[in-house]
Parts: sequence; structure tokens; C-alpha cells
Amino acid sequence: MICNGLSQIRGMDAIHMSSLQEQQLDAFYKGLKGVMLNKAQKAMPWYDAAWLHQFIVAQKLIKQFQPSKLNDFIHAFDRLRTDPNFEVKHVKDTLKLDVLNKVKEIISLIPREDHKSHEVESFGRLIVHDQPYFTELQRAMVPFVSELAGEEVEASYNFLSLYSGFGVCEPHIDAPSAKWTLDICVDQSDEWPISFSQIIPWPDGPTYSGDDWQRQIKTSEELKFKSHTLKPNEAILFSGSSQWHYRDAMPTALEQGFCHLLFFHFIPVGTSEISNPANWAEIFDIPELSGLGDSEINVIAKHES
Ligand SMILES: [Fe+2]
Repeated sequence: MICNGLSQIRGMDAIHMSSLQEQQLDAFYKGLKGVMLNKAQKAMPWYDAAWLHQFIVAQKLIKQFQPSKLNDFIHAFDRLRTDPNFEVKHVKDTLKLDVLNKVKEIISLIPREDHKSHEVESFGRLIVHDQPYFTELQRAMVPFVSELAGEEVEASYNFLSLYSGFGVCEPHIDAPSAKWTLDICVDQSDEWPISFSQIIPWPDGPTYSGDDWQRQIKTSEELKFKSHTLKPNEAILFSGSSQWHYRDAMPTALEQGFCHLLFFHFIPVGTSEISNPANWAEIFDIPELSGLGDSEINVIAKHES
């Protein structure tokens, strides 16, 4: 009832709305989205699920405030979904030898202060985002990846992942801004398997719940996981936004273990705007979606946890 009442206020001529009312309305919308996002976070707790949380909340808001736009909104994302027949591609001799050596040299020269350490505890890795040479290399690989993916792609973000012997990667699904990932093994102490499920529809609720939800995913027969191993200069192309993927703890002794991977992410050509929730209010002309992708709302959602 409250929502419907506010929806009617939203439709009023701005002249008739005092600035206090506007502020109250904005605060209400922010609070509402924060609570809804919090619910979605609890239902889908895995790493990189923030995009799906926003997508689910957006659909609920549209259903509530502008239901006639719901169908168009959902189908606008069709190109970011993945063909169920896609299969992971394994690439050998990915980079020319001189390029591989240059990549190794750059890794050895990256200053310590450029290593981001926020995933040391959860993944056992340091990361470096969008290093200029790697970004150039990623762009040069667009035609190759387009052919492997079966569609024209453009480069999205990239990062270097410097796994230590504490490396582990719990099961998760990526955001569609990483619809395609070319995961290049630069160097490693040992072969370290990565497992992929078959292509699945984007989850929209708590399919796997309870304290052991990761185990439920890994042991699910219906997900049909397959394990792959990479040697240095081999790569794998997968669709991380539509495939569960994980790596168990690195098998090597902790002090000696390492695995240096380059993650190049790609999206279908022309989908960068729509892949960002912060753009949805404007793209779809739905003011109620404004603030999605906004850190302030995500902070509200986290505080609700
Ligand atoms: Fe991932």
C-alpha cells in the first residue's frame, strides 16, 4: 500500500512536490532497494553475484511500478545470456613466445603497491587490474575470441591473478560483464584443475542454501561439472556468467605453490552500457531503477545483513 501511494506521488507534477517530500521519497527508494538487495544477497551469497542481485531487484521494482515494461526489460539482456550448446574451449600455444616472455617480464616488474590484496584471504591471490600492456593484448585477441565464442565480442575488463600456494576459488558465477573469459595460464608450480558446469540459466533465487551450499553445487549431478587443467601458455574460454566454476585448494605445499593467470573478459559487441546496472534507469526510462549499481545502496544492503 505504501509503495502504491508513493508511486502516485512520483507521478505528481514536480511543482506540487515540496523538496522535503522529494527527499523523503528518495530516501524511501534508497531504503527499499537496500532491503531488497539484502534479501537477494542472502538468497545468492556467492562471489560476483552482485549483478544478479541488482537484476532481480530491478525486475521486482518494474513489476511493482511499471509492469508493462517488464517483458522488454528481461529480453533486453538476451544477448548477454549464453547459448546452452556452448562448450568450453581449450587453447594451446595461446601467445607467441616473445609475447609470453614479455608478459612474464611485466609481471616481475609490477610494483608491489599495484598489487591489490583484498582477495588474499578469500582466494589466496593478489590481483592487478587493467595493466596497460595486458589491456592492449586483450584488445588484439578480440577476433580470436569472437571466433571461439561464436559471436562478435568486445573487450571488457581484465586482471592478472597471482595465486599463491593458498589459492582456492569457491564455486561462483560471474557477472555478465564477464560473459566470456579467456583464462590464460602464464606460469604455475603445478597443474591446478578448474571445473565448469554445463551452461545454466541465470539463477533467480536460493537454489542452493544452507551452510554447505558450496558442497551441494560441487556434487550436483545435474550441473554436469567437467574438470580441466592448463599448462603454461594454454588457455580456456568459458562463459563464467552462465557456468558455475571453481578450483579446489591448490595441491602444492603452501610455500612453494603458485599460479599466475591472466583473465581477459569479453562481452557481445555493443552490450557494455546495458551490462552496467547504473545505466538501467536511463536506458529503460524507469526512474525507480535509479541508484542501482550505486555504492550507497549496496552499503545499505550490507548494513542490513
Ligand atoms: Fe569467475
